[in-house]
Parts: sequence; C-alpha cells; structure tokens
Amino acid sequence: MADLPSNEWMELLEALQRRLAALAADGMRWLNVAPDPAMAAAVEQDSLPSQGAPPDTVATPPAHTPAAKRPRPGEPAQLGIAMAEGARPHPASIATIDSLHDHYRDCLNCKLGAGRTNLVFGTGNDHPRLMFIGEGPGAEEDAQGLPFVGRAGALLTDLIKAMGLTRADVYITNVVKCRPPENRTPQPDEIASCRPILQRQIELLDPALIVTLGNAPLKVLKPSAAGITRERGVQFMYADWPVLPTFHPAYLLRNPAAIATCWADFRHAMELAYRQT
Ligand code: URA
Repeated sequence: MADLPSNEWMELLEALQRRLAALAADGMRWLNVAPDPAMAAAVEQDSLPSQGAPPDTVATPPAHTPAAKRPRPGEPAQLGIAMAEGARPHPASIATIDSLHDHYRDCLNCKLGAGRTNLVFGTGNDHPRLMFIGEGPGAEEDAQGLPFVGRAGALLTDLIKAMGLTRADVYITNVVKCRPPENRTPQPDEIASCRPILQRQIELLDPALIVTLGNAPLKVLKPSAAGITRERGVQFMYADWPVLPTFHPAYLLRNPAAIATCWADFRHAMELAYRQT
C-alpha cells in the first residue's frame, strides 16, 4: 500500500466506497471483512499517515479548502458498514467528534485513567482552521475537564486573543487526555494509548493548520524531530495536514524572553490557517 501513488490510492478508496454504498443501497447491513495482516498491523499502530506523504515530509501546505468540501479519510457511515451491537468500534469508525468523546469518557486503556478526575478530551470549534495540541492536562485541567485552563492556559488564551480569535474559534487538545501524576511528562505507553484518539480528532476536525505546543506533540506528529528548539517555526506535513511547531506556553512562563519568538510563530500560523483558497 505504501508504494502506491496517492492518486491511485484515492481512486481505489473511492471505488471501494462506491461499491460499499451500492451494497448498502441494496439493503446489505453487514460485511465481514477478512483481516489483511499488513492492514491489521497498520491499524494497530494507527499509521494512517502512510496513505499520503510521510509524516515528516516538508511540503508547502495546500491552501485551506472548507472542511465540508474535503474528503475525510474512512468515514464508515459513507462506507455503509454496520457495527455489531455491543461491539467496541475502532476509533477510525467513529463519525463525529462528540461520539468520539463519548466513546472515551470512561477510558481505562492506560494507567493514567485510574488517577484522573476528568478525562480532558479537547474543546472548541469542531471544524476549526487552527488546532492546538499540547502535552497533557495538569491539575486545573483535570479538575475542570478542559484543556489549558491553568496558568499556561491563560497565556495560550491571551495569545489566541492577540490573534483576534477566541478559544471557540479554534480547537485545543493534548497528546494525552488524562493527567500524568505530579504533572510528569507522559510516558510512551500512555502516548501510544491515546494516539488513536488524537488521530481521529485530527481526521474529524480536519483543521487547516495544526500548531503543536512543545516537544511532546511535535514528537508524536514528527518522530524524527530533533527537538522544539531546533524545529519551532519550521512547518511540516502530517499526512494531509500542515503542522507548525512552537513553544509550549509553560516554557514561555519560565522563559518570558521566548514570547516574542512564539508570537512570530502564532502570526505565521494565522497567515497559513486563514489564507484564502
Ligand atoms: N499543559 C498542557 O500541555 N496541556 C494542558 O491542557 C495544560 C497544560
């Protein structure tokens, strides 16, 4: 699959969608699919980006096409595949951001679940031009169930306001959805456990631009990244989505001199996310 040019891949996918839609129109409600070992492994790792450019390919981002007009990868409603009653759907089969949230509200897939007060799923516009991804909730976020509502969050909110936007215009989430104890850095197994949620959030929200805040989200979307100090301000593609990494607001609180650099990144982000198609 990875070797197919993306046009052929899209044609194949569209032909499959047409075929499945025809079967659904004929009244077919169930489809048993024999697992392909390579695909199963890809789904297991949630390696959807391999369909297009590799995640760390540097490319000029496409001008934003309104979300409603853009094809969204793998929406099962269009494919007409029904789920067995009581079966736990793979996140890739969940069709709305609210149902994705509901699906994970009681998640105990990793050890962070047991210690949380609230799962901090994400908040904001569900078809945003800008999506911010931070590291993980802190104490205040855990208490309120909302991302970036503590001191670092107040700074992020100020930066968003300085862009002429509100939090309701953008979408804000984190790499991990539950608070790591003592606000430690999330561990690889915790990041891996939350990865399907983040992946599906990106697909469903379909932002014009993703802004990663700090090292953790940068490394998730670009595993080869050297680190935020080297990579901030340098745009890359994560599958179909352009990404601009910048500093985490908590870093700015400790290093106020870096705010000017971060503000330059935010202005760059505005230009990229809101330029006309
Ligand atoms: N830091 C983060 O990375 N995320 C939050 O939600 C709050 C602080």
